[in-house]
Amino acid sequence: MQKRAKIEEAVARKYPEQVVLVTTRSRSGKANVMAVGWTCVASGDPLMFALGIDDGAYTYELIRQTREFVVAFPGEKQGKETLFVGTRHGREMDKFRACGLKRQKATKVKAPLVADAVANFECKLVEITRPGDCPLIVGRVVAAHVNANRTLRRLYTVGRGHEMGGVRKV
Ligand SMILES: Cc1cc2nc3c(=O)[nH]c(=O)nc-3n(C[C@H](O)[C@H](O)[C@H](O)COP(=O)(O)O)c2cc1C
Repeated sequence: MQKRAKIEEAVARKYPEQVVLVTTRSRSGKANVMAVGWTCVASGDPLMFALGIDDGAYTYELIRQTREFVVAFPGEKQGKETLFVGTRHGREMDKFRACGLKRQKATKVKAPLVADAVANFECKLVEITRPGDCPLIVGRVVAAHVNANRTLRRLYTVGRGHEMGGVRKV
């Protein structure tokens, strides 16, 4: 039976929520990476991802400038790195270096792949819309990569306050 609730109370029950890493590279060549939980598939054919990225994020500025980025699915064991890159701004530091996240060259975009992620998707910007208070970035996937270790599992945000972990089949 459903009981009427405040919107905030109901949406607090959304977990587990997927989390992705979004990488970018500035025109001067500096790579950056951030964590994004507000994401979904926006089109199947061609494959597109939608990302809610705050306009204060350095990533937002770099996507607008370069019109390309990479979406990576972090692995279950990459919680620490995901939290690190999701709580610091790339304008102030090289987050890849600072947290030891390994990079790999992409094939069709200048933004790097996350070498140890479960999968990576190279994306070209399709559009930026603003349905509410957060810009919604839609990117078309132009190349994809999977980890050679196919047993790796994805990381999720499992509770409030950026609590992260894996999700098991029931
Ligand atoms: C698990 C997690 C999920 C996040 N999800 C989002 C999100 O969906 N959208 C967003 O704008 N910021 C999100 N953030 C916060 C950004 O990752 C954070 O503001 C980051 O410092 C931006 O980096 P940048 O300024 O280098 O681009 C999330 C952080 C964490 C830890």
